[in-house]
Amino acid sequence: MVDLQYFPLPGASIDEIDTPAIIVDLDVAEANIKRLQDFGDANGTAIRPHSKTHKSPVFARKQIEAGAIGICCAKVGEAEAMVAGGVKNILIPNQVVGDSKIKRVMALASEANIVVAADDAGNVEQLSAAASGVGKEIGVIVEVNVGMNRCGTEPGEDTTALARIITNSPGLRFDGVMGYEGHTVAVRDESERRANAEGAMANLISAVENIEAAGMPVNVVSAAGTGTYNITGKMDRITDLQCGSYIFMDGDYMEVFEDFKPALTVLATVISRPTSDRAVLDTGMKSMSIDRGLPIVVDQPGATYEKISEEHGIMSVEGDAQRLKVGDKVQLRPMHGDTTINLHSHYFGIRKNKLDSIIEIAGRGRFR
Ligand SMILES: Cc1ncc(COP(=O)(O)O)c(C=O)c1O
Repeated sequence: MVDLQYFPLPGASIDEIDTPAIIVDLDVAEANIKRLQDFGDANGTAIRPHSKTHKSPVFARKQIEAGAIGICCAKVGEAEAMVAGGVKNILIPNQVVGDSKIKRVMALASEANIVVAADDAGNVEQLSAAASGVGKEIGVIVEVNVGMNRCGTEPGEDTTALARIITNSPGLRFDGVMGYEGHTVAVRDESERRANAEGAMANLISAVENIEAAGMPVNVVSAAGTGTYNITGKMDRITDLQCGSYIFMDGDYMEVFEDFKPALTVLATVISRPTSDRAVLDTGMKSMSIDRGLPIVVDQPGATYEKISEEHGIMSVEGDAQRLKVGDKVQLRPMHGDTTINLHSHYFGIRKNKLDSIIEIAGRGRFR
């Protein structure tokens, strides 16, 4: 990387970090990791964090050191980055479809315990043929549609039938089920979120009961996002939580609750002050996602991020913020962390406002 030689050294102040740059307050992120783990420990529910948020084996290892049983990876490419970084227990709570990806999963199975989700008998047949062809065994869980209406079998006979097919497939180990209540995790109203999530989990648990009634043991019942950790995580049959965003929290999740604290910002530089009420930043949509809205300007009263183009962010400034001048740094909280992180190659990890470490985002862009 050409710009590595210009990276600041540990101990540098935030102002010495060139921009746009993702800043992570490591103390806050570690406290978030501990908080979810403590919740899981207190409620007898395992934590299997979703690495689609941080995309970095460094943070995955912190989660595992804190007590997580493994991690989730959305894509085979992300799983490869995690295994290369020393993570040994991976659930892909997603369909792995096509020869190329199935071969890569089998290669990973030599180095790590791999479990994948499935909702289709033809896909299960291909996974089984590939696993037995190379003499490997992988775990498979059935993804159940719990109301999000994305992937997943319906909770009744369809789910039990697929569990039976997996159980009878050479090279595959039927481990259980998953159901992601993604349609409920960001519902702002707490009681509405609770009712929706409990309804969704009732679907998942009825699927578990049907499978067990048909004589197959269900060891894994995996579910939850950050917004439902304390609802789903208290339900009896749920074995593990797949929360991802809790580690950093983004602007969108901070509107849901403040159980976890915001740890991530994008550092930006004022590159132009064309008028007294306008300041232009070097941070546009190539370094900041806006799929959930424009970023929030942190600790800068009077400054509002108003408009974005590829490499520019236009702020309106009033009051104190009018003192901002060219070269000043501003921190922005993205509304959606995961998609913003995917645009960057490194985290700049700070403690007490000083650079602690630079962490590669090894899984960014690994969407294949
Ligand atoms: C399958 C699955 N599990 C869990 C999550 C939880 O994510 P979060 O904690 O960010 O809501 C997601 C989010 O996209 C997901 O797709």
